[in-house]
Amino acid sequence: MHNENFTIPVGSIFSKAEIAKLRSETRGVQNVIHFNNAGSGLMPDIVTQVQLDHIALEANIGGYEASALRAEAVQEFYTQTALLFNCKLTNIAFTASATDSYTRALSSIPFKQGDIILTDKDDFVSNQIQFLSLQKRFGIKIVHINNAPEGGVDLGDLEEKLFKLKPKVLAITHVPTNSGLAQPVKQIGHIYQKFVANQADQSWYILDACQSAGQMKLDVQDLKCDFLSVTGRKFLRGPRGTGMLYISDKALESGLEPLFIDMRGAEWTDKGSYKQQPDARRFEDWEFAYSTVLGTSAAIAYCRSIGEDRIRGQVKLLSGKMRKELEAIDRVRVLDRGPELAGLVTFTVGNSDPLLIVNELARRKINVVPSYRAFGLIDFDEKGVKWAIRASPHYYNTLDEVEGFIESVKEII
Ligand SMILES: Cc1ncc(COP(=O)(O)O)c(C=O)c1O
Repeated sequence: MHNENFTIPVGSIFSKAEIAKLRSETRGVQNVIHFNNAGSGLMPDIVTQVQLDHIALEANIGGYEASALRAEAVQEFYTQTALLFNCKLTNIAFTASATDSYTRALSSIPFKQGDIILTDKDDFVSNQIQFLSLQKRFGIKIVHINNAPEGGVDLGDLEEKLFKLKPKVLAITHVPTNSGLAQPVKQIGHIYQKFVANQADQSWYILDACQSAGQMKLDVQDLKCDFLSVTGRKFLRGPRGTGMLYISDKALESGLEPLFIDMRGAEWTDKGSYKQQPDARRFEDWEFAYSTVLGTSAAIAYCRSIGEDRIRGQVKLLSGKMRKELEAIDRVRVLDRGPELAGLVTFTVGNSDPLLIVNELARRKINVVPSYRAFGLIDFDEKGVKWAIRASPHYYNTLDEVEGFIESVKEII
């Protein structure tokens, strides 16, 4: 284990020895101060290694032969993901990204002209573009739920619109990409369940948990969603090019299937027909980059061995500290608001240039990203800003890294 001199925040959930161990298992912390976990988290070394090993195996014995040889380890991906979301293995599909998961789910809904998609004002940009594309092609309608005065979905408005409009789809993003908000998903799930029980059995709830997976516990029994779309590479610290999709039994039993189902999702039984798989494999493609399946499995096991609740506590502590110190800097405006905040810290700086700030931070080996209006149009307009910097700490970051970042921001602006 390498020796690093660092400090941890007051109230730290992890001991210094634990943080030292976690950092010793992540080579990237030697090179950069990584506050871009909402972009792509630093992979633990074990995640890197299992992928390298599998690629070497493919080179040595052949790709098909390698995945056959590692069939048990591949199956472990489903076990780990089912444990992560508290569901059965048969509810889990492996995909190439959160967007890939999302579009497979969305494409399975049998939309008719005039059907309504009810969504929140902080829903992810690509989801919103896909709804607009559905509107253009099929004439569906998009309705937004109002925000509460403190930010996040107005639960009263959600309930009213659900019962009045009877939407075909409820689409919520748990933690938006450009704001520290965490939507009150437990209450949303509860309200949605009431609606479905009383009014509609042909309505579907898609929850985008891309930014929340790996930084907080996701239990589909509480969330009450029909689909949960997730990426591997962000707070879960898995490989790029990976995603997971949870599909509820209700959705599977109703026969929903992705529009472009392939030979893994279905069996070609007759010249004029095919039979869909009974389980979530229906939402998968035949071809996988198996090294990334194994890497994702290792990342989920690593996350679970640490514990999502402890991770949540530490991320909350570091991001809270970051926000407090940023707020104290002249000209800096922290933009995060909501009943509950996640680990994404967003801020803007009056009379400054986002690229200059990001590039200057990068020169100091501090990773953050700029966000622009087009990434979250409704949210940015409501806040009256054109851009924001997003800094997203994780549990392996230290207090010194947060303080170094704050000092750098002060120097740059
Ligand atoms: C909230 C949210 N949803 C979906 C996505 C899309 O994820 P992916 O790039 O894995 O498709 C992102 C990516 O930043 C996101 O922040």
